[in-house]
Amino acid sequence: MKRIHNISPARFVALKALKRIERDKAFSSILLSQLETNLSEKDKALCHELCLGVLRRKMLLDAIIDRLAEGKSIDLDIRIILRLGIYQIAFLDKIPTHAAVDEAVKMAVKCGKPQAKGFVNAILRRYSSTKSFSFDIEDEIEKVSLYTSHPKFLIERWSKQFGFETARLIAETNNKLIRLEARFTAKTSRDTKQQLRNLTTLELLDLASKGEIYFQDKASQLVANAVQLRADESFLDVCCAPGSKFTFIHYLLACSPKKLFVGSDRFFHRLEITKKNCERLGVENYCLVCCDAESALPFGEESFDVVLLDAPCSGTGTIRNNPEIRYFLRESDFLELQQKQIKMMREALRVLKKGGRLIYSTCSLEREENEDVVREILAEFPNLKKHLLENMKEFLTDEGFYRTFPHRDDMGGFFFSVLKKF
Ligand SMILES: C[S@@+](CC[C@H](N)C(=O)[O-])C[C@H]1O[C@@H](n2cnc3c(N)ncnc32)[C@H](O)[C@@H]1O
Repeated sequence: MKRIHNISPARFVALKALKRIERDKAFSSILLSQLETNLSEKDKALCHELCLGVLRRKMLLDAIIDRLAEGKSIDLDIRIILRLGIYQIAFLDKIPTHAAVDEAVKMAVKCGKPQAKGFVNAILRRYSSTKSFSFDIEDEIEKVSLYTSHPKFLIERWSKQFGFETARLIAETNNKLIRLEARFTAKTSRDTKQQLRNLTTLELLDLASKGEIYFQDKASQLVANAVQLRADESFLDVCCAPGSKFTFIHYLLACSPKKLFVGSDRFFHRLEITKKNCERLGVENYCLVCCDAESALPFGEESFDVVLLDAPCSGTGTIRNNPEIRYFLRESDFLELQQKQIKMMREALRVLKKGGRLIYSTCSLEREENEDVVREILAEFPNLKKHLLENMKEFLTDEGFYRTFPHRDDMGGFFFSVLKKF
Protein backbone atom coordinates (compact mmCIF):
# COMPACT_ATOMS: atom_id res chain seq x y z
CA MET A 1 0.00 0.00 0.00
CA LYS A 2 1.31 3.47 -0.91
CA ARG A 3 1.46 6.42 1.48
CA ILE A 4 -2.02 7.99 1.42
CA HIS A 5 -1.76 11.81 1.32
CA ASN A 6 1.74 11.13 2.54
CA ILE A 7 0.53 9.40 5.73
CA SER A 8 2.22 6.16 6.69
CA PRO A 9 -0.12 3.29 5.71
CA ALA A 10 0.57 1.46 8.98
CA ARG A 11 -0.67 4.41 11.05
CA PHE A 12 -3.64 5.02 8.78
CA VAL A 13 -4.81 1.39 9.02
CA ALA A 14 -4.23 1.44 12.80
CA LEU A 15 -6.45 4.54 13.07
CA LYS A 16 -9.16 2.86 10.98
CA ALA A 17 -9.01 -0.34 13.05
CA LEU A 18 -9.02 1.45 16.41
CA LYS A 19 -12.05 3.47 15.37
CA ARG A 20 -14.00 0.36 14.34
CA ILE A 21 -13.04 -1.44 17.56
CA GLU A 22 -14.22 1.51 19.67
CA ARG A 23 -17.40 2.26 17.69
CA ASP A 24 -18.57 -1.21 16.63
CA LYS A 25 -16.97 -3.41 19.31
CA ALA A 26 -15.02 -5.19 16.57
CA PHE A 27 -12.34 -7.71 17.58
CA SER A 28 -8.78 -6.66 16.79
CA SER A 29 -7.58 -10.11 15.68
CA ILE A 30 -10.32 -10.47 13.05
CA LEU A 31 -10.28 -6.84 11.95
CA LEU A 32 -6.51 -6.52 11.59
CA SER A 33 -6.24 -9.66 9.48
CA GLN A 34 -8.80 -8.09 7.10
CA LEU A 35 -7.43 -4.53 7.05
CA GLU A 36 -3.74 -5.42 6.89
CA THR A 37 -3.89 -7.55 3.73
CA ASN A 38 -2.37 -4.87 1.46
CA LEU A 39 0.34 -3.73 3.88
CA SER A 40 4.00 -4.70 3.51
CA GLU A 41 5.32 -7.06 6.22
CA LYS A 42 7.11 -4.12 7.89
CA ASP A 43 3.96 -1.97 7.93
CA LYS A 44 1.88 -4.91 9.16
CA ALA A 45 4.19 -5.28 12.15
CA LEU A 46 4.01 -1.55 12.95
CA CYS A 47 0.23 -1.43 12.50
CA HIS A 48 -0.16 -4.41 14.86
CA GLU A 49 2.15 -2.89 17.43
CA LEU A 50 0.32 0.48 17.32
CA CYS A 51 -3.15 -0.99 17.45
CA LEU A 52 -2.57 -3.52 20.22
CA GLY A 53 -0.30 -1.13 22.12
CA VAL A 54 -2.93 1.64 22.16
CA LEU A 55 -5.61 -0.84 23.25
CA ARG A 56 -3.38 -2.09 26.08
CA ARG A 57 -2.81 1.47 27.35
CA LYS A 58 -6.05 3.19 26.38
CA MET A 59 -7.20 4.32 29.84
CA LEU A 60 -3.79 5.69 30.77
CA LEU A 61 -3.40 7.44 27.39
CA ASP A 62 -6.85 9.02 27.80
CA ALA A 63 -6.04 10.24 31.31
CA ILE A 64 -2.87 11.91 29.95
CA ILE A 65 -4.77 13.43 27.01
CA ASP A 66 -7.55 14.78 29.25
CA ARG A 67 -5.09 16.36 31.59
CA LEU A 68 -3.18 18.01 28.73
CA ALA A 69 -6.41 19.14 27.03
CA GLU A 70 -7.58 20.72 30.29
CA GLY A 71 -11.16 19.54 30.01
CA LYS A 72 -11.67 20.38 26.31
CA SER A 73 -14.03 17.87 24.65
CA ILE A 74 -12.31 15.82 21.92
CA ASP A 75 -13.98 13.89 19.11
CA LEU A 76 -13.22 10.20 18.53
CA ASP A 77 -10.95 10.60 15.44
CA ILE A 78 -8.79 13.20 17.15
CA ARG A 79 -8.70 11.26 20.41
CA ILE A 80 -7.47 8.13 18.62
CA ILE A 81 -4.88 10.18 16.71
CA LEU A 82 -3.65 11.57 20.06
CA ARG A 83 -3.62 8.09 21.66
CA LEU A 84 -1.50 6.84 18.74
CA GLY A 85 0.84 9.84 19.00
CA ILE A 86 1.41 9.61 22.76
CA TYR A 87 1.77 5.82 22.60
CA GLN A 88 4.58 6.16 20.03
CA ILE A 89 6.39 8.86 22.02
CA ALA A 90 6.01 7.08 25.36
CA PHE A 91 6.45 3.42 24.47
CA LEU A 92 8.24 3.04 21.10
CA ASP A 93 11.98 3.80 21.22
CA LYS A 94 12.54 3.51 17.48
CA ILE A 95 10.09 6.23 16.41
CA PRO A 96 11.47 9.80 16.68
CA THR A 97 9.09 12.19 18.44
CA HIS A 98 8.95 14.58 15.46
CA ALA A 99 7.81 11.72 13.18
CA ALA A 100 5.03 10.74 15.60
CA VAL A 101 3.86 14.38 15.85
CA ASP A 102 4.04 15.09 12.09
CA GLU A 103 2.12 11.93 11.21
CA ALA A 104 -0.56 12.74 13.81
CA VAL A 105 -1.06 16.25 12.38
CA LYS A 106 -1.33 14.85 8.84
CA MET A 107 -3.87 12.26 9.99
CA ALA A 108 -6.08 15.00 11.48
CA VAL A 109 -6.16 16.65 8.04
CA LYS A 110 -6.81 13.33 6.29
CA CYS A 111 -9.79 12.73 8.61
CA GLY A 112 -11.35 15.96 7.37
CA LYS A 113 -10.50 17.88 10.55
CA PRO A 114 -7.83 20.39 9.47
CA GLN A 115 -9.05 22.81 12.17
CA ALA A 116 -7.68 20.33 14.79
CA LYS A 117 -4.11 20.45 13.39
CA GLY A 118 -2.91 23.04 15.90
CA PHE A 119 -4.58 21.26 18.82
CA VAL A 120 -3.02 17.87 17.96
CA ASN A 121 0.38 19.49 17.51
CA ALA A 122 0.12 21.39 20.81
CA ILE A 123 -0.97 18.37 22.89
CA LEU A 124 1.76 16.11 21.51
CA ARG A 125 4.48 18.79 21.88
CA ARG A 126 3.32 19.41 25.44
CA TYR A 127 3.51 15.68 26.17
CA SER A 128 6.94 15.23 24.61
CA SER A 129 8.38 18.07 26.71
CA THR A 130 7.55 16.26 29.99
CA LYS A 131 7.01 12.61 28.99
CA SER A 132 6.43 11.50 32.56
CA PHE A 133 3.07 11.58 34.20
CA SER A 134 1.93 10.58 37.61
CA PHE A 135 -1.60 10.61 38.88
CA ASP A 136 -2.32 11.20 42.50
CA ILE A 137 -4.47 8.16 43.32
CA GLU A 138 -4.71 6.78 46.84
CA ASP A 139 -6.91 3.77 46.20
CA GLU A 140 -4.69 0.81 45.21
CA ILE A 141 -7.32 -0.82 43.00
CA GLU A 142 -7.96 2.43 41.15
CA LYS A 143 -4.22 2.88 40.68
CA VAL A 144 -3.78 -0.59 39.13
CA SER A 145 -6.88 0.01 37.04
CA LEU A 146 -5.49 3.23 35.54
CA TYR A 147 -1.84 2.23 35.16
CA THR A 148 -2.67 -1.13 33.56
CA SER A 149 -5.74 0.22 31.70
CA HIS A 150 -8.26 -2.30 33.00
CA PRO A 151 -11.76 -1.16 34.05
CA LYS A 152 -11.90 -0.91 37.84
CA PHE A 153 -14.58 -3.60 38.21
CA LEU A 154 -12.24 -6.20 36.67
CA ILE A 155 -9.41 -5.44 39.12
CA GLU A 156 -11.95 -5.49 41.94
CA ARG A 157 -13.39 -8.86 40.98
CA TRP A 158 -9.94 -10.43 40.40
CA SER A 159 -8.83 -9.07 43.80
CA LYS A 160 -11.86 -10.69 45.43
CA GLN A 161 -11.25 -14.01 43.65
CA PHE A 162 -7.46 -14.32 43.77
CA GLY A 163 -6.19 -11.55 46.11
CA PHE A 164 -4.94 -8.07 45.22
CA GLU A 165 -1.35 -9.07 44.36
CA THR A 166 -2.48 -11.73 41.88
CA ALA A 167 -5.00 -9.32 40.36
CA ARG A 168 -2.20 -6.79 39.82
CA LEU A 169 0.06 -9.44 38.27
CA ILE A 170 -2.68 -10.65 35.93
CA ALA A 171 -3.39 -7.08 34.77
CA GLU A 172 0.31 -6.35 34.23
CA THR A 173 0.86 -9.62 32.35
CA ASN A 174 -2.11 -8.83 30.11
CA ASN A 175 -0.12 -5.88 28.75
CA LYS A 176 3.01 -7.88 27.94
CA LEU A 177 3.66 -9.32 24.51
CA ILE A 178 2.98 -13.03 24.31
CA ARG A 179 5.22 -15.47 22.44
CA LEU A 180 3.61 -16.97 19.36
CA GLU A 181 2.91 -20.65 20.16
CA ALA A 182 2.69 -23.13 17.33
CA ARG A 183 1.88 -26.83 17.28
CA PHE A 184 2.33 -29.59 14.74
CA THR A 185 -0.40 -30.90 12.44
CA ALA A 186 -0.90 -34.03 10.32
CA LYS A 187 0.91 -32.13 7.53
CA THR A 188 4.07 -31.17 9.46
CA SER A 189 7.16 -32.42 7.62
CA ARG A 190 10.14 -33.96 9.40
CA ASP A 191 12.27 -30.92 8.43
CA THR A 192 9.79 -28.53 10.03
CA LYS A 193 9.68 -30.62 13.21
CA GLN A 194 13.45 -30.42 13.52
CA GLN A 195 13.84 -26.73 12.69
CA LEU A 196 10.77 -25.12 14.28
CA ARG A 197 12.68 -23.33 17.08
CA ASN A 198 15.06 -21.63 14.60
CA LEU A 199 12.49 -20.29 12.13
CA THR A 200 11.70 -16.59 11.62
CA THR A 201 8.16 -15.22 12.06
CA LEU A 202 7.81 -14.91 8.28
CA GLU A 203 8.78 -18.55 7.79
CA LEU A 204 6.35 -19.60 10.53
CA LEU A 205 3.54 -17.63 8.86
CA ASP A 206 4.30 -19.36 5.58
CA LEU A 207 4.20 -22.80 7.23
CA ALA A 208 0.92 -21.89 8.95
CA SER A 209 -0.66 -20.89 5.63
CA LYS A 210 0.29 -24.34 4.24
CA GLY A 211 -1.17 -26.10 7.30
CA GLU A 212 2.20 -27.46 8.41
CA ILE A 213 1.83 -25.75 11.77
CA TYR A 214 -1.07 -24.12 13.64
CA PHE A 215 -0.82 -21.15 16.01
CA GLN A 216 -2.52 -22.04 19.27
CA ASP A 217 -2.15 -20.80 22.83
CA LYS A 218 -0.58 -23.36 25.17
CA ALA A 219 -3.64 -23.32 27.46
CA SER A 220 -5.94 -24.15 24.54
CA GLN A 221 -3.59 -27.03 23.62
CA LEU A 222 -3.75 -28.23 27.21
CA VAL A 223 -7.56 -28.52 27.08
CA ALA A 224 -7.28 -30.64 23.91
CA ASN A 225 -4.75 -32.83 25.73
CA ALA A 226 -7.13 -33.19 28.69
CA VAL A 227 -9.74 -34.80 26.42
CA GLN A 228 -7.49 -37.91 26.09
CA LEU A 229 -9.64 -39.31 23.30
CA ARG A 230 -9.03 -42.83 22.00
CA ALA A 231 -9.69 -43.70 18.36
CA ASP A 232 -12.38 -46.21 19.40
CA GLU A 233 -14.40 -43.59 21.30
CA SER A 234 -17.14 -41.49 19.67
CA PHE A 235 -16.65 -37.75 20.17
CA LEU A 236 -18.69 -34.55 20.08
CA ASP A 237 -17.16 -31.06 20.31
CA VAL A 238 -20.29 -29.01 21.13
CA CYS A 239 -18.87 -25.54 20.39
CA CYS A 240 -16.14 -26.42 17.94
CA ALA A 241 -15.58 -23.32 15.78
CA PRO A 242 -13.04 -22.29 14.54
CA GLY A 243 -11.71 -25.75 15.32
CA SER A 244 -8.48 -25.10 17.22
CA LYS A 245 -9.18 -27.84 19.78
CA PHE A 246 -11.21 -30.03 17.38
CA THR A 247 -8.30 -30.27 14.93
CA PHE A 248 -5.74 -30.78 17.69
CA ILE A 249 -7.77 -33.56 19.36
CA HIS A 250 -7.92 -35.23 15.95
CA TYR A 251 -4.14 -34.84 15.53
CA LEU A 252 -3.49 -36.27 19.01
CA LEU A 253 -5.35 -39.47 18.04
CA ALA A 254 -2.39 -40.20 15.77
CA CYS A 255 -4.70 -42.25 13.51
CA SER A 256 -8.05 -41.90 11.80
CA PRO A 257 -11.06 -41.89 14.21
CA LYS A 258 -12.83 -45.27 14.16
CA LYS A 259 -16.08 -43.87 15.59
CA LEU A 260 -18.11 -40.67 15.09
CA PHE A 261 -15.95 -37.53 15.31
CA VAL A 262 -18.40 -34.61 15.31
CA GLY A 263 -18.10 -30.87 15.71
CA SER A 264 -21.09 -28.58 16.18
CA ASP A 265 -21.53 -24.83 16.46
CA ARG A 266 -24.39 -22.36 16.38
CA PHE A 267 -22.98 -20.25 13.55
CA PHE A 268 -22.74 -21.56 10.01
CA HIS A 269 -20.10 -19.01 8.95
CA ARG A 270 -17.91 -20.16 11.85
CA LEU A 271 -18.36 -23.79 10.77
CA GLU A 272 -17.21 -22.81 7.28
CA ILE A 273 -13.98 -21.50 8.83
CA THR A 274 -13.72 -24.75 10.82
CA LYS A 275 -14.09 -26.75 7.63
CA LYS A 276 -11.34 -24.72 5.92
CA ASN A 277 -9.09 -25.26 8.94
CA CYS A 278 -9.75 -29.01 8.85
CA GLU A 279 -8.92 -29.13 5.13
CA ARG A 280 -5.74 -27.08 5.56
CA LEU A 281 -4.54 -29.14 8.54
CA GLY A 282 -5.23 -32.54 6.95
CA VAL A 283 -8.11 -33.54 9.27
CA GLU A 284 -10.24 -36.33 7.80
CA ASN A 285 -13.24 -38.49 8.78
CA TYR A 286 -15.21 -35.90 10.69
CA CYS A 287 -18.73 -34.35 10.56
CA LEU A 288 -19.78 -30.76 11.22
CA VAL A 289 -23.31 -29.87 12.33
CA CYS A 290 -24.89 -26.44 12.72
CA CYS A 291 -27.11 -26.31 15.82
CA ASP A 292 -27.94 -24.37 18.97
CA ALA A 293 -26.65 -26.23 22.01
CA GLU A 294 -28.79 -24.15 24.36
CA SER A 295 -32.02 -25.61 23.01
CA ALA A 296 -31.66 -29.16 21.70
CA LEU A 297 -28.67 -30.89 20.18
CA PRO A 298 -29.83 -33.01 17.22
CA PHE A 299 -28.54 -36.26 18.76
CA GLY A 300 -30.23 -39.00 20.74
CA GLU A 301 -29.67 -39.61 24.46
CA GLU A 302 -26.33 -41.20 25.31
CA SER A 303 -24.85 -40.98 21.80
CA PHE A 304 -21.20 -40.12 22.55
CA ASP A 305 -18.39 -41.58 24.67
CA VAL A 306 -16.68 -38.22 25.08
CA VAL A 307 -18.15 -34.70 24.86
CA LEU A 308 -16.17 -31.45 24.95
CA LEU A 309 -18.11 -28.31 25.87
CA ASP A 310 -15.74 -25.41 25.23
CA ALA A 311 -18.41 -22.91 26.15
CA PRO A 312 -18.90 -19.35 24.89
CA CYS A 313 -17.59 -17.16 27.71
CA SER A 314 -16.39 -13.68 28.67
CA GLY A 315 -12.85 -14.47 27.47
CA THR A 316 -11.15 -12.68 30.41
CA GLY A 317 -8.38 -15.28 30.24
CA THR A 318 -7.47 -14.16 26.72
CA ILE A 319 -7.11 -10.41 27.30
CA ARG A 320 -3.38 -10.67 26.61
CA ASN A 321 -4.14 -11.70 23.02
CA ASN A 322 -7.37 -9.72 22.69
CA PRO A 323 -6.76 -6.48 24.63
CA GLU A 324 -10.07 -4.86 23.63
CA ILE A 325 -12.17 -7.47 25.50
CA ARG A 326 -11.59 -5.62 28.80
CA TYR A 327 -13.51 -2.58 27.50
CA PHE A 328 -16.46 -4.54 26.11
CA LEU A 329 -17.38 -6.41 29.30
CA ARG A 330 -20.06 -5.41 31.79
CA GLU A 331 -20.46 -6.71 35.33
CA SER A 332 -23.82 -8.27 34.42
CA ASP A 333 -22.27 -10.40 31.61
CA PHE A 334 -20.87 -13.10 33.88
CA LEU A 335 -24.16 -14.30 35.34
CA GLU A 336 -25.89 -14.08 31.95
CA LEU A 337 -23.17 -16.26 30.46
CA GLN A 338 -23.46 -18.65 33.39
CA GLN A 339 -27.12 -19.29 32.56
CA LYS A 340 -26.20 -20.15 28.96
CA GLN A 341 -23.32 -22.36 30.06
CA ILE A 342 -25.53 -24.33 32.46
CA LYS A 343 -28.16 -24.91 29.75
CA MET A 344 -25.47 -26.16 27.35
CA MET A 345 -24.01 -28.42 30.04
CA ARG A 346 -27.41 -30.10 30.52
CA GLU A 347 -27.68 -30.76 26.77
CA ALA A 348 -24.10 -32.02 26.59
CA LEU A 349 -24.82 -34.43 29.45
CA ARG A 350 -27.99 -35.69 27.80
CA VAL A 351 -26.05 -36.90 24.75
CA LEU A 352 -23.18 -38.38 26.82
CA LYS A 353 -23.11 -42.15 27.32
CA LYS A 354 -22.98 -43.72 30.78
CA GLY A 355 -19.32 -44.30 31.58
CA GLY A 356 -18.41 -41.39 29.28
CA ARG A 357 -16.50 -38.16 30.00
CA LEU A 358 -17.62 -34.57 29.69
CA ILE A 359 -14.89 -31.97 29.49
CA TYR A 360 -16.14 -28.48 30.33
CA SER A 361 -13.78 -25.62 29.50
CA THR A 362 -13.71 -21.83 29.17
CA CYS A 363 -11.11 -19.17 28.50
CA SER A 364 -12.50 -17.11 31.37
CA LEU A 365 -10.92 -16.37 34.74
CA GLU A 366 -14.28 -15.81 36.40
CA ARG A 367 -15.64 -18.14 39.07
CA GLU A 368 -19.22 -17.60 37.92
CA GLU A 369 -18.43 -19.19 34.53
CA ASN A 370 -16.19 -21.93 35.90
CA GLU A 371 -16.38 -23.49 39.37
CA ASP A 372 -19.93 -22.17 39.94
CA VAL A 373 -21.22 -23.77 36.71
CA VAL A 374 -19.68 -27.16 37.45
CA ARG A 375 -20.80 -27.08 41.10
CA GLU A 376 -24.38 -26.36 40.07
CA ILE A 377 -24.31 -29.23 37.55
CA LEU A 378 -22.75 -31.63 40.08
CA ALA A 379 -25.54 -30.75 42.53
CA GLU A 380 -28.19 -31.35 39.86
CA PHE A 381 -26.76 -34.64 38.51
CA PRO A 382 -25.73 -37.08 41.28
CA ASN A 383 -24.53 -39.54 38.61
CA LEU A 384 -21.51 -37.30 37.85
CA LYS A 385 -18.07 -37.39 39.42
CA LYS A 386 -14.98 -35.25 38.97
CA HIS A 387 -12.29 -37.18 37.12
CA LEU A 388 -8.64 -36.37 37.86
CA LEU A 389 -5.88 -36.44 35.24
CA GLU A 390 -2.52 -37.93 36.16
CA ASN A 391 -0.39 -35.72 33.90
CA MET A 392 -1.93 -32.33 34.74
CA LYS A 393 -1.28 -32.08 38.47
CA GLU A 394 0.45 -28.70 38.21
CA PHE A 395 -2.79 -27.11 37.05
CA LEU A 396 -5.07 -28.88 39.57
CA THR A 397 -6.84 -26.56 42.04
CA ASP A 398 -7.71 -27.35 45.67
CA GLU A 399 -11.30 -27.87 44.55
CA GLY A 400 -10.42 -30.54 41.97
CA PHE A 401 -10.63 -28.38 38.85
CA TYR A 402 -7.92 -27.30 36.41
CA ARG A 403 -6.82 -23.71 35.84
CA THR A 404 -4.05 -21.88 34.03
CA PHE A 405 -3.05 -18.26 34.70
CA PRO A 406 -1.40 -15.72 32.38
CA HIS A 407 1.05 -14.46 35.02
CA ARG A 408 1.87 -17.86 36.55
CA ASP A 409 1.97 -20.12 33.49
CA ASP A 410 2.76 -17.65 30.69
CA MET A 411 -0.30 -18.79 28.76
CA GLY A 412 -3.99 -17.90 28.54
CA GLY A 413 -6.17 -18.07 31.67
CA PHE A 414 -8.25 -21.19 31.01
CA PHE A 415 -10.45 -23.39 33.18
CA PHE A 416 -11.37 -27.02 32.63
CA SER A 417 -12.99 -29.83 34.48
CA VAL A 418 -13.42 -33.49 33.53
CA LEU A 419 -16.65 -35.15 34.70
CA LYS A 420 -17.45 -38.85 34.46
CA LYS A 421 -21.06 -40.03 34.08
CA PHE A 422 -22.17 -43.17 35.93
C1 LIG B 1 -14.91 -20.53 22.97
S1 LIG B 1 -15.54 -20.59 21.35
C2 LIG B 1 -15.08 -22.20 20.86
C3 LIG B 1 -13.64 -22.34 20.43
C4 LIG B 1 -13.34 -23.68 19.84
N1 LIG B 1 -13.67 -24.76 20.73
C5 LIG B 1 -11.88 -23.79 19.44
O1 LIG B 1 -11.08 -24.32 20.20
O2 LIG B 1 -11.55 -23.30 18.36
C6 LIG B 1 -17.24 -20.80 21.63
C7 LIG B 1 -18.05 -21.17 20.42
O3 LIG B 1 -19.40 -21.36 20.86
C8 LIG B 1 -20.24 -21.05 19.78
N2 LIG B 1 -21.60 -20.86 20.34
C9 LIG B 1 -22.10 -19.77 20.96
N3 LIG B 1 -23.37 -19.99 21.34
C10 LIG B 1 -23.68 -21.26 20.95
C11 LIG B 1 -24.84 -22.08 21.05
N4 LIG B 1 -25.94 -21.63 21.64
N5 LIG B 1 -24.79 -23.32 20.53
C12 LIG B 1 -23.66 -23.79 19.93
N6 LIG B 1 -22.55 -23.07 19.81
C13 LIG B 1 -22.54 -21.82 20.31
C14 LIG B 1 -19.60 -19.82 19.17
O4 LIG B 1 -20.00 -19.67 17.84
C15 LIG B 1 -18.11 -20.14 19.32
O5 LIG B 1 -17.64 -20.70 18.13
